[in-house]
Amino acid sequence: MSAPAQARASHLLVKHRNSRRPSSWKEPVVTRSEEEALQLVKQYRNQIATASDVPVAFAELATTESHCGSARSGGDLGWFGPGQMQKAFEDATFALTVGELSQPMFSDSGGQRKAVAARRPAGVKRSLAAAAVSHAPLRELTAPESPVTPGCPAQLPELITQEAVRSLESELDNGASIAALRRFNDLLADLPADCWEARLRPVMTELAYNLESFNPAFTSVLLRVQQTIGVSDYVRRDTALKHLIQPLAGEYGMHNSEAQAATHRELFSQFYADLMREPLEGALAATPCPPAAQLFFAQMTRDLCGPGSDVMQQACYAMGYNLAIEYLADYEKTWMLDSFRTLNSRVLAPAGRPLTQWVFLEVHAEGEAEHAAIGHAAVTAFVPAAEEGVLRRAMMDHDRDMAAFYNHLADLLEA
Ligand SMILES: [Fe+2]
Repeated sequence: MSAPAQARASHLLVKHRNSRRPSSWKEPVVTRSEEEALQLVKQYRNQIATASDVPVAFAELATTESHCGSARSGGDLGWFGPGQMQKAFEDATFALTVGELSQPMFSDSGGQRKAVAARRPAGVKRSLAAAAVSHAPLRELTAPESPVTPGCPAQLPELITQEAVRSLESELDNGASIAALRRFNDLLADLPADCWEARLRPVMTELAYNLESFNPAFTSVLLRVQQTIGVSDYVRRDTALKHLIQPLAGEYGMHNSEAQAATHRELFSQFYADLMREPLEGALAATPCPPAAQLFFAQMTRDLCGPGSDVMQQACYAMGYNLAIEYLADYEKTWMLDSFRTLNSRVLAPAGRPLTQWVFLEVHAEGEAEHAAIGHAAVTAFVPAAEEGVLRRAMMDHDRDMAAFYNHLADLLEA
Protein backbone atom coordinates (compact mmCIF):
# COMPACT_ATOMS: atom_id res chain seq x y z
CA MET A 1 0.00 0.00 0.00
CA SER A 2 1.34 3.44 -0.83
CA ALA A 3 1.99 6.00 1.91
CA PRO A 4 -0.61 8.73 2.43
CA ALA A 5 0.04 11.72 0.15
CA GLN A 6 -1.56 14.05 2.65
CA ALA A 7 -2.16 14.12 6.37
CA ARG A 8 -4.12 16.31 8.67
CA ALA A 9 -2.83 17.13 12.12
CA SER A 10 -3.49 19.33 15.10
CA HIS A 11 -0.86 20.70 17.42
CA LEU A 12 -0.64 22.51 20.71
CA LEU A 13 2.30 24.88 20.77
CA VAL A 14 4.00 26.23 23.89
CA LYS A 15 6.65 28.85 23.28
CA HIS A 16 9.69 29.43 25.45
CA ARG A 17 12.06 32.37 25.81
CA ASN A 18 14.45 31.01 23.18
CA SER A 19 11.71 30.67 20.57
CA ARG A 20 12.33 32.55 17.33
CA ARG A 21 9.66 35.07 18.32
CA PRO A 22 9.10 34.73 22.08
CA SER A 23 5.63 36.26 22.10
CA SER A 24 2.17 35.18 21.06
CA TRP A 25 -1.50 36.05 21.32
CA LYS A 26 -1.45 34.44 24.80
CA GLU A 27 1.66 36.11 26.18
CA PRO A 28 3.16 39.34 24.83
CA VAL A 29 6.50 38.34 26.34
CA VAL A 30 7.27 34.66 26.85
CA THR A 31 9.68 34.10 29.72
CA ARG A 32 9.47 30.36 30.45
CA SER A 33 12.49 28.14 29.84
CA GLU A 34 12.61 25.27 27.32
CA GLU A 35 12.35 22.82 30.20
CA GLU A 36 9.28 24.57 31.60
CA ALA A 37 7.66 24.54 28.15
CA LEU A 38 8.32 20.83 27.86
CA GLN A 39 6.80 20.14 31.28
CA LEU A 40 3.70 22.11 30.33
CA VAL A 41 3.29 20.13 27.12
CA LYS A 42 3.71 16.87 29.03
CA GLN A 43 1.02 18.00 31.45
CA TYR A 44 -1.34 18.92 28.58
CA ARG A 45 -0.62 15.63 26.86
CA ASN A 46 -1.59 13.71 30.00
CA GLN A 47 -4.79 15.69 30.29
CA ILE A 48 -5.69 14.92 26.68
CA ALA A 49 -4.64 11.28 26.75
CA THR A 50 -6.79 10.51 29.79
CA ALA A 51 -9.87 12.36 28.53
CA SER A 52 -12.96 10.39 27.53
CA ASP A 53 -13.01 12.08 24.11
CA VAL A 54 -9.42 12.72 22.99
CA PRO A 55 -10.12 14.85 19.85
CA VAL A 56 -12.52 17.10 21.77
CA ALA A 57 -10.11 17.42 24.70
CA PHE A 58 -7.27 18.24 22.30
CA ALA A 59 -9.27 20.94 20.53
CA GLU A 60 -10.50 22.48 23.79
CA LEU A 61 -7.04 22.64 25.33
CA ALA A 62 -5.40 23.88 22.13
CA THR A 63 -8.01 26.64 21.89
CA THR A 64 -7.15 28.03 25.31
CA GLU A 65 -3.48 27.07 25.68
CA SER A 66 -1.74 26.90 22.29
CA HIS A 67 0.55 29.79 21.40
CA CYS A 68 -0.03 29.21 17.69
CA GLY A 69 -2.62 31.11 15.66
CA SER A 70 -4.18 27.68 15.03
CA ALA A 71 -5.60 27.95 18.56
CA ARG A 72 -8.53 29.65 16.82
CA SER A 73 -9.29 26.36 15.10
CA GLY A 74 -8.61 24.03 18.02
CA GLY A 75 -5.00 23.51 16.93
CA ASP A 76 -5.97 22.14 13.52
CA LEU A 77 -3.30 22.74 10.88
CA GLY A 78 -5.41 21.39 8.02
CA TRP A 79 -4.22 19.05 5.29
CA PHE A 80 -0.58 19.05 4.27
CA GLY A 81 1.75 16.96 2.20
CA PRO A 82 5.46 16.13 2.24
CA GLY A 83 7.73 19.18 2.28
CA GLN A 84 5.14 21.59 3.64
CA MET A 85 5.89 21.40 7.34
CA GLN A 86 9.15 21.28 9.23
CA LYS A 87 10.77 17.91 8.64
CA ALA A 88 10.61 16.66 12.24
CA PHE A 89 6.96 17.61 12.51
CA GLU A 90 6.17 16.03 9.16
CA ASP A 91 7.97 12.81 10.06
CA ALA A 92 6.22 12.59 13.42
CA THR A 93 2.82 13.22 11.88
CA PHE A 94 3.14 10.69 9.06
CA ALA A 95 4.39 8.08 11.53
CA LEU A 96 1.20 8.32 13.61
CA THR A 97 -1.97 6.36 13.10
CA VAL A 98 -5.18 8.35 12.84
CA GLY A 99 -6.24 9.63 16.27
CA GLU A 100 -2.88 8.89 17.89
CA LEU A 101 -1.04 11.47 20.04
CA SER A 102 2.66 12.05 19.45
CA GLN A 103 5.18 12.48 22.22
CA PRO A 104 6.13 16.11 22.99
CA MET A 105 8.61 17.44 20.48
CA PHE A 106 10.65 20.51 19.74
CA SER A 107 10.24 22.04 16.32
CA ASP A 108 12.93 23.91 14.42
CA SER A 109 12.20 27.14 12.62
CA GLY A 110 15.56 28.17 11.25
CA GLY A 111 15.66 26.05 8.14
CA GLN A 112 13.25 27.90 5.89
CA ARG A 113 14.82 31.26 5.46
CA LYS A 114 18.11 33.02 5.14
CA ALA A 115 19.11 35.33 7.96
CA VAL A 116 18.67 38.80 6.54
CA ALA A 117 17.25 40.79 9.37
CA ALA A 118 17.88 41.30 13.02
CA ARG A 119 14.97 39.17 14.05
CA ARG A 120 16.16 36.15 12.07
CA PRO A 121 19.65 35.70 13.44
CA ALA A 122 21.77 33.00 11.87
CA GLY A 123 22.38 30.03 14.07
CA VAL A 124 19.02 30.06 15.84
CA LYS A 125 17.79 26.58 15.35
CA ARG A 126 15.94 24.87 18.09
CA SER A 127 13.78 27.88 18.31
CA LEU A 128 10.08 27.33 18.27
CA ALA A 129 8.56 25.30 20.99
CA ALA A 130 7.43 22.05 22.37
CA ALA A 131 4.42 20.69 20.57
CA ALA A 132 2.04 17.79 20.85
CA VAL A 133 0.65 16.34 17.65
CA SER A 134 -2.40 14.35 16.78
CA HIS A 135 -3.90 13.18 13.57
CA ALA A 136 -7.43 14.41 13.45
CA PRO A 137 -9.63 11.31 13.18
CA LEU A 138 -10.49 11.98 9.60
CA ARG A 139 -9.82 10.44 6.23
CA GLU A 140 -6.37 10.09 4.73
CA LEU A 141 -5.70 10.71 1.08
CA THR A 142 -3.60 8.25 -0.81
CA ALA A 143 -1.72 8.91 -4.01
CA PRO A 144 -3.97 8.17 -7.00
CA GLU A 145 -2.99 5.14 -9.05
CA SER A 146 -3.05 6.83 -12.44
CA PRO A 147 -1.20 10.14 -12.33
CA VAL A 148 -1.57 11.11 -15.99
CA THR A 149 -4.67 12.78 -17.38
CA PRO A 150 -5.80 11.42 -20.76
CA GLY A 151 -4.72 13.86 -23.45
CA CYS A 152 -1.57 14.95 -21.57
CA PRO A 153 1.82 13.82 -22.71
CA ALA A 154 2.82 10.56 -21.03
CA GLN A 155 6.20 12.07 -20.17
CA LEU A 156 5.53 14.87 -17.73
CA PRO A 157 7.89 17.84 -17.71
CA GLU A 158 10.44 17.89 -14.92
CA LEU A 159 9.29 20.02 -11.99
CA ILE A 160 11.20 22.96 -10.55
CA THR A 161 13.40 21.95 -7.60
CA GLN A 162 13.09 23.03 -3.98
CA GLU A 163 16.55 24.56 -4.27
CA ALA A 164 15.59 26.71 -7.25
CA VAL A 165 12.50 28.02 -5.43
CA ARG A 166 14.49 28.68 -2.25
CA SER A 167 17.01 30.61 -4.29
CA LEU A 168 14.23 32.82 -5.68
CA GLU A 169 12.85 33.30 -2.17
CA SER A 170 16.27 34.41 -0.98
CA GLU A 171 16.22 37.09 -3.70
CA LEU A 172 13.10 38.42 -1.99
CA ASP A 173 14.98 38.40 1.32
CA ASN A 174 17.25 41.02 -0.19
CA GLY A 175 14.68 42.77 -2.36
CA ALA A 176 13.02 46.17 -2.54
CA SER A 177 9.99 45.18 -0.43
CA ILE A 178 12.09 44.15 2.55
CA ALA A 179 13.81 47.55 2.51
CA ALA A 180 10.46 49.36 2.19
CA LEU A 181 8.90 47.26 4.97
CA ARG A 182 11.84 47.97 7.26
CA ARG A 183 11.56 51.71 6.55
CA PHE A 184 7.79 51.72 7.10
CA ASN A 185 7.92 49.71 10.32
CA ASP A 186 10.73 51.78 11.82
CA LEU A 187 8.72 54.94 11.17
CA LEU A 188 5.60 53.31 12.63
CA ALA A 189 7.39 52.34 15.84
CA ASP A 190 8.87 55.87 16.11
CA LEU A 191 5.69 57.89 15.45
CA PRO A 192 5.72 61.11 17.53
CA ALA A 193 3.37 61.15 20.53
CA ASP A 194 1.82 64.48 19.53
CA CYS A 195 0.77 63.59 15.98
CA TRP A 196 0.70 59.80 15.69
CA GLU A 197 -3.02 59.67 15.10
CA ALA A 198 -3.14 62.17 12.25
CA ARG A 199 -0.24 60.46 10.50
CA LEU A 200 -1.58 56.96 11.01
CA ARG A 201 -5.18 57.55 9.90
CA PRO A 202 -4.58 57.66 6.10
CA VAL A 203 -2.18 54.71 6.43
CA MET A 204 -4.84 52.60 8.14
CA THR A 205 -7.31 53.33 5.34
CA GLU A 206 -4.73 52.24 2.79
CA LEU A 207 -4.10 49.04 4.75
CA ALA A 208 -7.83 48.26 4.97
CA TYR A 209 -8.25 48.48 1.18
CA ASN A 210 -5.01 46.61 0.59
CA LEU A 211 -6.07 43.77 2.89
CA GLU A 212 -9.12 43.07 0.76
CA SER A 213 -7.36 43.49 -2.56
CA PHE A 214 -5.51 40.22 -1.95
CA ASN A 215 -8.73 38.21 -2.06
CA PRO A 216 -9.40 38.87 -5.77
CA ALA A 217 -5.67 38.33 -6.40
CA PHE A 218 -5.78 34.88 -4.76
CA THR A 219 -8.97 34.07 -6.66
CA SER A 220 -7.25 35.02 -9.94
CA VAL A 221 -4.36 32.70 -9.08
CA LEU A 222 -6.78 29.82 -8.62
CA LEU A 223 -8.45 30.60 -11.94
CA ARG A 224 -5.12 30.75 -13.80
CA VAL A 225 -4.21 27.30 -12.51
CA GLN A 226 -7.68 25.90 -13.26
CA GLN A 227 -7.46 27.25 -16.81
CA THR A 228 -4.64 24.81 -17.57
CA ILE A 229 -7.21 21.99 -17.70
CA GLY A 230 -6.30 19.69 -20.59
CA VAL A 231 -2.79 21.13 -20.67
CA SER A 232 -1.40 20.40 -17.21
CA ASP A 233 -1.40 17.05 -15.47
CA TYR A 234 -4.50 16.46 -13.34
CA VAL A 235 -2.69 15.37 -10.17
CA ARG A 236 -0.22 18.25 -10.28
CA ARG A 237 -2.98 20.78 -10.91
CA ASP A 238 -5.17 19.29 -8.20
CA THR A 239 -2.34 19.29 -5.65
CA ALA A 240 -1.51 22.91 -6.41
CA LEU A 241 -5.15 23.96 -6.13
CA LYS A 242 -5.62 22.16 -2.82
CA HIS A 243 -2.70 24.15 -1.45
CA LEU A 244 -3.69 27.47 -2.95
CA ILE A 245 -7.27 27.41 -1.72
CA GLN A 246 -6.37 27.08 1.97
CA PRO A 247 -5.06 30.62 2.62
CA LEU A 248 -7.94 32.09 0.58
CA ALA A 249 -10.51 30.17 2.62
CA GLY A 250 -8.76 31.35 5.79
CA GLU A 251 -9.33 34.96 4.71
CA TYR A 252 -13.05 34.26 5.12
CA GLY A 253 -12.63 32.41 8.43
CA MET A 254 -13.20 29.00 6.90
CA HIS A 255 -11.55 25.76 7.96
CA ASN A 256 -12.57 22.17 7.24
CA SER A 257 -15.36 20.77 9.41
CA GLU A 258 -15.72 23.89 11.53
CA ALA A 259 -18.19 26.66 12.02
CA GLN A 260 -17.11 29.79 10.18
CA ALA A 261 -14.87 32.03 12.28
CA ALA A 262 -14.31 35.78 11.89
CA THR A 263 -13.22 36.99 8.46
CA HIS A 264 -10.00 38.94 8.17
CA ARG A 265 -12.02 42.09 7.44
CA GLU A 266 -13.88 41.63 10.74
CA LEU A 267 -10.62 41.12 12.65
CA PHE A 268 -9.11 44.21 11.02
CA SER A 269 -12.23 46.22 11.92
CA GLN A 270 -11.81 45.29 15.59
CA PHE A 271 -8.16 46.28 15.49
CA TYR A 272 -8.92 49.56 13.72
CA ALA A 273 -11.70 50.55 16.14
CA ASP A 274 -9.46 49.78 19.12
CA LEU A 275 -6.57 51.80 17.68
CA MET A 276 -8.37 54.82 16.23
CA ARG A 277 -11.40 54.88 18.56
CA GLU A 278 -13.79 55.12 15.64
CA PRO A 279 -15.48 52.53 13.42
CA LEU A 280 -13.66 51.44 10.28
CA GLU A 281 -16.83 51.90 8.22
CA GLY A 282 -16.67 55.68 8.69
CA ALA A 283 -13.07 55.89 7.52
CA LEU A 284 -13.79 53.73 4.48
CA ALA A 285 -16.84 55.79 3.59
CA ALA A 286 -14.71 58.96 3.72
CA THR A 287 -11.93 57.44 1.58
CA PRO A 288 -13.34 54.46 -0.32
CA CYS A 289 -10.40 54.22 -2.74
CA PRO A 290 -7.13 55.31 -1.08
CA PRO A 291 -4.64 56.10 -3.87
CA ALA A 292 -1.66 53.87 -3.08
CA ALA A 293 -3.72 50.77 -2.34
CA GLN A 294 -5.84 51.39 -5.43
CA LEU A 295 -2.72 51.62 -7.59
CA PHE A 296 -1.30 48.47 -6.02
CA PHE A 297 -4.53 46.59 -6.70
CA ALA A 298 -4.58 47.81 -10.31
CA GLN A 299 -1.03 46.53 -10.77
CA MET A 300 -1.91 43.13 -9.29
CA THR A 301 -4.99 42.88 -11.49
CA ARG A 302 -3.00 43.83 -14.58
CA ASP A 303 -0.32 41.26 -13.79
CA LEU A 304 -2.61 38.39 -12.81
CA CYS A 305 -5.55 38.92 -15.18
CA GLY A 306 -3.84 40.38 -18.25
CA PRO A 307 -4.17 38.82 -21.71
CA GLY A 308 -1.86 36.06 -22.90
CA SER A 309 -2.01 32.91 -24.96
CA ASP A 310 0.12 30.43 -23.01
CA VAL A 311 -2.07 29.22 -20.15
CA MET A 312 0.76 27.24 -18.50
CA GLN A 313 3.00 30.29 -18.35
CA GLN A 314 0.14 32.38 -17.01
CA ALA A 315 -0.50 29.80 -14.30
CA CYS A 316 3.19 29.62 -13.38
CA TYR A 317 3.35 33.39 -13.28
CA ALA A 318 0.30 33.50 -10.99
CA MET A 319 1.81 30.94 -8.65
CA GLY A 320 5.09 32.88 -8.47
CA TYR A 321 3.13 36.03 -7.72
CA ASN A 322 1.19 34.20 -5.00
CA LEU A 323 4.37 32.81 -3.46
CA ALA A 324 5.88 36.30 -3.30
CA ILE A 325 2.72 37.64 -1.64
CA GLU A 326 2.80 34.99 1.07
CA TYR A 327 6.56 35.00 1.54
CA LEU A 328 6.72 38.77 2.00
CA ALA A 329 3.57 38.81 4.14
CA ASP A 330 5.48 36.93 6.85
CA TYR A 331 7.92 39.83 7.21
CA GLU A 332 5.15 42.37 6.71
CA LYS A 333 2.92 41.10 9.51
CA THR A 334 5.64 40.04 11.95
CA TRP A 335 7.32 43.43 11.76
CA MET A 336 4.00 45.27 11.90
CA LEU A 337 3.10 43.44 15.11
CA ASP A 338 6.47 44.39 16.61
CA SER A 339 6.08 48.03 15.58
CA PHE A 340 2.57 48.32 17.01
CA ARG A 341 3.80 46.76 20.25
CA THR A 342 6.53 49.40 20.45
CA LEU A 343 4.13 52.22 19.58
CA ASN A 344 1.71 50.90 22.18
CA SER A 345 4.20 50.83 25.04
CA ARG A 346 5.89 54.11 24.03
CA VAL A 347 2.87 56.25 23.05
CA LEU A 348 -0.58 54.65 23.29
CA ALA A 349 -0.44 53.15 26.80
CA PRO A 350 1.14 56.25 28.42
CA ALA A 351 -1.62 58.32 26.76
CA GLY A 352 -4.20 56.14 28.53
CA ARG A 353 -5.47 54.32 25.46
CA PRO A 354 -3.55 51.06 25.24
CA LEU A 355 -4.34 48.63 22.46
CA THR A 356 -6.40 45.65 23.60
CA GLN A 357 -7.31 44.00 20.26
CA TRP A 358 -4.22 42.18 19.04
CA VAL A 359 -5.89 39.25 17.33
CA PHE A 360 -5.66 40.57 13.76
CA LEU A 361 -1.92 41.23 13.98
CA GLU A 362 -1.11 38.10 15.96
CA VAL A 363 -3.05 35.73 13.74
CA HIS A 364 -1.22 37.10 10.69
CA ALA A 365 2.19 37.19 12.36
CA GLU A 366 1.74 33.53 13.26
CA GLY A 367 0.05 32.38 10.07
CA GLU A 368 1.92 33.91 7.14
CA ALA A 369 4.97 31.64 7.44
CA GLU A 370 2.61 28.70 7.08
CA HIS A 371 0.99 30.36 4.05
CA ALA A 372 4.42 30.87 2.52
CA ALA A 373 5.16 27.17 3.00
CA ILE A 374 1.85 26.34 1.31
CA GLY A 375 2.67 28.65 -1.60
CA HIS A 376 6.10 27.02 -1.87
CA ALA A 377 4.57 23.52 -1.90
CA ALA A 378 2.06 24.56 -4.57
CA VAL A 379 4.89 25.80 -6.81
CA THR A 380 7.04 22.68 -6.43
CA ALA A 381 4.00 20.48 -7.18
CA PHE A 382 3.12 22.25 -10.43
CA VAL A 383 5.68 24.55 -12.03
CA PRO A 384 7.95 22.94 -14.66
CA ALA A 385 11.68 23.57 -14.30
CA ALA A 386 11.62 25.26 -17.71
CA GLU A 387 9.35 28.01 -16.34
CA GLU A 388 11.77 29.22 -13.66
CA GLY A 389 12.21 32.49 -15.55
CA VAL A 390 8.45 33.12 -15.52
CA LEU A 391 8.31 32.33 -11.81
CA ARG A 392 11.15 34.73 -11.08
CA ARG A 393 9.58 37.52 -13.15
CA ALA A 394 6.32 37.19 -11.21
CA MET A 395 8.06 37.25 -7.84
CA MET A 396 10.09 40.31 -8.78
CA ASP A 397 6.99 42.08 -10.17
CA HIS A 398 5.24 41.66 -6.85
CA ASP A 399 8.34 42.71 -4.96
CA ARG A 400 8.53 45.93 -7.00
CA ASP A 401 4.83 46.78 -6.56
CA MET A 402 4.73 45.98 -2.86
CA ALA A 403 7.84 48.10 -2.29
CA ALA A 404 6.18 51.06 -4.01
CA PHE A 405 3.10 50.63 -1.80
CA TYR A 406 5.01 50.52 1.48
CA ASN A 407 7.32 53.36 0.49
CA HIS A 408 4.19 55.44 -0.14
CA LEU A 409 2.88 54.51 3.32
CA ALA A 410 6.26 55.37 4.83
CA ASP A 411 6.05 58.78 3.11
CA LEU A 412 2.66 59.30 4.80
CA LEU A 413 4.15 58.51 8.20
CA GLU A 414 7.02 60.93 7.58
CA ALA A 415 4.91 63.80 6.29
FE1 LIG B 1 -1.39 34.77 3.86
